[in-house]
Amino acid sequence: MLDQLDQLEKTALTELKGIQDEDALQRWKVSNLGRSSALMKTFDQLGSLAKDQRPIIGRRANEVKRALESALEAHSEALRQVSVERSLAAERLDITLPGRPVVRGRLHPATQTLKEIYKVFAEMGFQVYSSREVETDEYNFQLLNFPPHHPAREMQDTFFIDSGASRGDNPVVMRTHTSPGQIRAMREFSAQNPENPPPVRIILPGMCFRYEQITARSEIQFNQVEGLAVGEHITFGDLKGTLSDFARRMFSQDVRSRFRASHFPFTEPSAEMDIECFVCGGQGCPVCKRTGWLEILGCGMVHPVVLQNGGYDPSRFSGFAFGMGPERITMLRHRIEDIRAFWANDMRFLEQF
Ligand code: PHE
Repeated sequence: MLDQLDQLEKTALTELKGIQDEDALQRWKVSNLGRSSALMKTFDQLGSLAKDQRPIIGRRANEVKRALESALEAHSEALRQVSVERSLAAERLDITLPGRPVVRGRLHPATQTLKEIYKVFAEMGFQVYSSREVETDEYNFQLLNFPPHHPAREMQDTFFIDSGASRGDNPVVMRTHTSPGQIRAMREFSAQNPENPPPVRIILPGMCFRYEQITARSEIQFNQVEGLAVGEHITFGDLKGTLSDFARRMFSQDVRSRFRASHFPFTEPSAEMDIECFVCGGQGCPVCKRTGWLEILGCGMVHPVVLQNGGYDPSRFSGFAFGMGPERITMLRHRIEDIRAFWANDMRFLEQF
């Protein structure tokens, strides 16, 4: 009986050594340690053995059982280790591989130009003053010297927020230009000290709206940057100097500029400023329509009525104002031919800047 147990242990352990996978391991367990295995049957037979044999055989059978169980556990652990190593090798993750780059957004081309304009004027001492996009007829037109029914309104038809039925001649409108901000700013500053209002050096950027037929050249919404300087002894020479310097800082150090007489109800005298075409250097090309010059802004000396409306006494104060279109400047710079591209939300256009 003892020999049988020795033999059984030896065979089982040898067999176990050759086992490579989990299934075979389970089968080995059933046949060597299962209910109907030879080893377990030994325990059943103990009762029928001679009394003195029982403890000897019983102890040995238990030893064999424990030996097989611990060998099983060790082998099972070894198999698991091998399979972990195998999958680590097969499913290797290369953490040194660079990640996929996230596509970065960028500023809208009109915003890029706006920021450059802010920077140039900041260097010259002008602060940004934010004014509202929804205005009244009074601020958008009347206080700027466009009385109701004045023909100069024709160029700036707008969107009406209400019909004005209950507001007489003062309906609420979308601003057609940033110029109403001149009145808002002057009124705010002059209210600080009505006897001695402080000087004004501001730019007023923002969206404007006009009731336009949408074409390659005109949109119903666009940005403007207005400028306003008010103080004592400000002359047309200051206007020319400031704006020529702006052109040099914005476009190039040696760009030439010229002023042509024009008309706006809120400035007198009024002018349009042209800069030498930066595409052909003034030779004449399709961008400047062979004139050698590009029109970039409207300007003039603030009209006495407008100064008065802002709380600045025109017998003591004077000032200049100007207004430019950053989209138009962007179009000239990048030779964009259709203004509709700015607000069409087409990524193929926007990604180019
Ligand atoms: N507001 C004018 C326009 O939209 C531009 C302008 C501003 C002209 C300031 C003169 C002075 O056409």
